[in-house]
Formats: sequence, structure tokens, C-alpha cells
Amino acid sequence: MKKYLVIGNPIDHSLSPRLHNYWFKENNIKAVYEKKQIEELDIAEIISDIRDGKIEGINVTVPFKKSVIPFLDKLEIPEKTQSVNTIYIEKNNIMGSNKIVGRNTDILGFKYSLEHIKYSVKGKKIFILGAGGVTSSIIYALEEMKPSVIMLSNRTKEKAKNLIKLFPQLELVEWGDIRNFDMIINTTSLGLKENDKLPINYDQIGSGKFFYDVIYNPKKTNFLLEAEKRGHQIENGKMMFIYQAQEAFRLFTIAPKVWSGLIPSINKKVLKLLDND
Ligand code: ATR
Repeated sequence: MKKYLVIGNPIDHSLSPRLHNYWFKENNIKAVYEKKQIEELDIAEIISDIRDGKIEGINVTVPFKKSVIPFLDKLEIPEKTQSVNTIYIEKNNIMGSNKIVGRNTDILGFKYSLEHIKYSVKGKKIFILGAGGVTSSIIYALEEMKPSVIMLSNRTKEKAKNLIKLFPQLELVEWGDIRNFDMIINTTSLGLKENDKLPINYDQIGSGKFFYDVIYNPKKTNFLLEAEKRGHQIENGKMMFIYQAQEAFRLFTIAPKVWSGLIPSINKKVLKLLDND
């Protein structure tokens, strides 16, 4: 039986196994997808398991999206993102030329999540909170969609500045300051816990804004609840999560010279799969 994994730390919360196992079943693929909590020191062994055919492919989550990079043979990601969330082996018929490939499906996941709700970023003022593992992918996706400005604010200024080196168009905003925006995106982990609060005075924000939270569990973070109370449009990270998984599944199921991968369904059943915790 083919084996797939999602690696991270912590990993308990990950719903990737649920989604991928559903899709394997739906497509009559004899494979199993598991989650594994690892330490940085375990990465080398996991990659060699892929090389040896013990594992077919992996997804990578916090905090290893960058640290897996040195172990890969081939990177197919925009260099600026420095973030890999999908790894698999690209098999060649010629002996010895198999390659471990790293890809980033978060970019597409974020982009599709906006297309799904028909939100256009073009010409909009975007405010990003956080500078963690997924932030660079979101900035990359946003830049392709041509907003008028992207502002970035992070508690640890150094990390925001490092991102600005990669994306010089970003405007740095002090943590706790809020500038005028059309869309605000929470990419921090604040909101995962019930009492987490971002330093935002919601009453000082005008009306008709769009609040997007990368977190999908809980479904509505404080950030989204406060926004909803004031009539703003809100969106959590669920569709981004599903679309990044869908693209990873396609990459996992590519058969060279035969097909370009299966695109598994996203329907009511799939959406519900992620709800009933
Ligand atoms: P990593 O930093 O390892 O990539 P992450 O979960 O992807 O981990 O990112 C965590 C993000 O949430 C960071 O932007 C982090 O801010 P710092 O860079 O200042 O650490 C932010 N974050 C986490 N806890 C926070 C808190 N209590 N207050 C403000 N920001 C917080």
C-alpha cells in the first residue's frame, strides 16, 4: 500500500489525512495518508524514505516549510517564497535519475480561495498581519493579483523586515497600528486558541471591509467574529486549505507521460468532512 504523510510540529490538528484518505477512496487508489509529528533532525530520514520508495509523498506544515528545502533535489517554487509544502519523487525511466521535488501549493490555494468567492484584489489596499511560514506564499499570490498596496505588520519587526527584503514593495507597519485597508489578512497563529486576541481596535475601522483569516479551526476566530459583528465580509482558511490539498493530490498522482494528475472533487461532502470534529 502506498503511503503518504503530513509532517509538522504540532500536527494533531491537521485535517490533511481526512481529506486525502477520502480522495484516495473516492478514486479507488490503494494508499494511506497519515500524520507524523517530527523534529528538525528527522527530516533527512523522511526524505530518504521517499527516495527508497517507503513513502510516496509528503505535505509539510509549520514549522518545516523552509527547513526541508536543503534536502530536496529540485525546487519548483518561486524562490522568493522559500516555502515548500508538497514533496514527492519524480520518477524517470533512466536509471538513477529520480528526483525529490519540492513544490508550493499554498500560493494556488490562496488564489483559488479568493476566486471561489469572487473577491478581486485588483487595486485594493491589503493589510497583512504576521510574518510566519505561510505569509510569503500569500504575498506572492497577492502580488500577481495587482493590489494597489500591501502593508505588513508583525510583532517581531525583524521577521517583517526579512520579508520586505524579498518583496520590496511591501510597506512596513508597526505592530498594533492599523492603516486604512480594503482587505486584512491574519497569517499569525493568534486565534488558534479561544482567548487569543489581535491588537486591533475594531471600532476604529470603517465599514465594508474584508477580513480573511488563514486559520480554519476554529471556524471563526475572534478576529472574524469581531468583524462579522460589525458587518464586514469574512472568510476563514478552509477553502485555501482544501485547494492547496487538491493541488498536492494532483501532484501526488501524476503518472509521467500518462496523465497530469487527478483533480479530486470539492463538493458538499468534502466541505463537511472538515466540519465534524
Ligand atoms: P513560524 O514563525 O515558525 O513560521 P508560524 O506559526 O508560521 O510560525 O508563524 C507565527 C506567526 O504568528 C508569526 O508572525 C508570529 O509573530 P512573531 O514573528 O512575532 O513570533 C505570530 N504570532 C504568534 N504568536 C503571537 C502573539 N502572541 N502575538 C503576536 N504575534 C504572534
